[in-house]
Amino acid sequence: MITSERFVAAALAFDHEGSPSQAALARGIAGDPAALAVVDRAEEARRQPVLVLAVCRWLGAPSGPWSALRPWLLARSDEVVAELGRRLTQTNDVRRCAPLSIALARVPGPVALLEVGASAGLCLGVDRYGYRAGDRAWGDPSSPVQLVVDVDAGVDAAPLPDGTLPEVVWRAGLDLDPVDVRDGDQVAWLETLLPPERGDRHELLTRAVALARTAPPRLVAADAVDGLAGLAAEAPDGATLVVVSTGTLVYLPGRRRQAFVDEVGRLGARWISYERRDLLTDVIADVPPGVPAEDAFAALALDGRAIGVGDAHGTRLHLVS
Ligand SMILES: C[S@@+](CC[C@H](N)C(=O)[O-])C[C@H]1O[C@@H](n2cnc3c(N)ncnc32)[C@H](O)[C@@H]1O
Repeated sequence: MITSERFVAAALAFDHEGSPSQAALARGIAGDPAALAVVDRAEEARRQPVLVLAVCRWLGAPSGPWSALRPWLLARSDEVVAELGRRLTQTNDVRRCAPLSIALARVPGPVALLEVGASAGLCLGVDRYGYRAGDRAWGDPSSPVQLVVDVDAGVDAAPLPDGTLPEVVWRAGLDLDPVDVRDGDQVAWLETLLPPERGDRHELLTRAVALARTAPPRLVAADAVDGLAGLAAEAPDGATLVVVSTGTLVYLPGRRRQAFVDEVGRLGARWISYERRDLLTDVIADVPPGVPAEDAFAALALDGRAIGVGDAHGTRLHLVS
């Protein structure tokens, strides 16, 4: 996809996720040959609109409209291109803990939790957060991180969790590029990548990071397939090993995805996934009648069997079993 098309597509996505300022800037860049020429000086993989706009903010770009960003971008183009070469898009969406918690509640504890693609490890704190859907509440009601999730359920769906989640006695994550919650610069970059006007998401991240800092998770810089058995070997005896993947397997090439699924099976681990619905050949999740496509973006599965579908962030779920 050529760069201008990437920015046009990103503008639609920004609008969709409630970030009109980002959408306007993306449209500005998409229609401006001089700005596109700056972006095209970066490596192809770094020409992502989210990354470009985050790098501008990181370097102190004016927060105003495109007419304010444009002269800044053209004047600071060398710096922007250099920073694009140093930075990667990195996210850690705590909201995905809601679907994760629903699947986790179906696993008898004690649990050893191992997340692949853990980023800052914030989803490893799944049992340390509180959840509410309608009149149902589970997790930790006194946690500073409280998530509200919109759930509807088909006739065959099991009831939502009620009360506490299984005890997590060990937790660790693998990531090619882990984020250390104790490192202010790394956390600031994670925050810079969030849409600026989504104060709710900034606050959630701040709260989850503060909680994670009280007991930072063990994170290992390694590949999801190659590092899995080594890290799993550290899990304590007597705990059920639960491997978790949320929004990560899409980054693995197709054959590596299957290698990951095979490796989880070889370890005899339970497996919770919240991944793009059509990504894994073994996870069959049809779109239930009446559920809009964007609310069936992801499939929630336990041991490869679909429990439900949901939006990309885990805020709207439809349970099927
Ligand atoms: C979109 S983030 C999702 C993070 C977290 N699971 C969440 O849901 O918020 C994907 C993560 O996968 C990591 N990643 C990508 N390819 C990987 C691989 N082959 N092995 C391990 N981690 C990988 C990235 O560094 C990134 O932190």
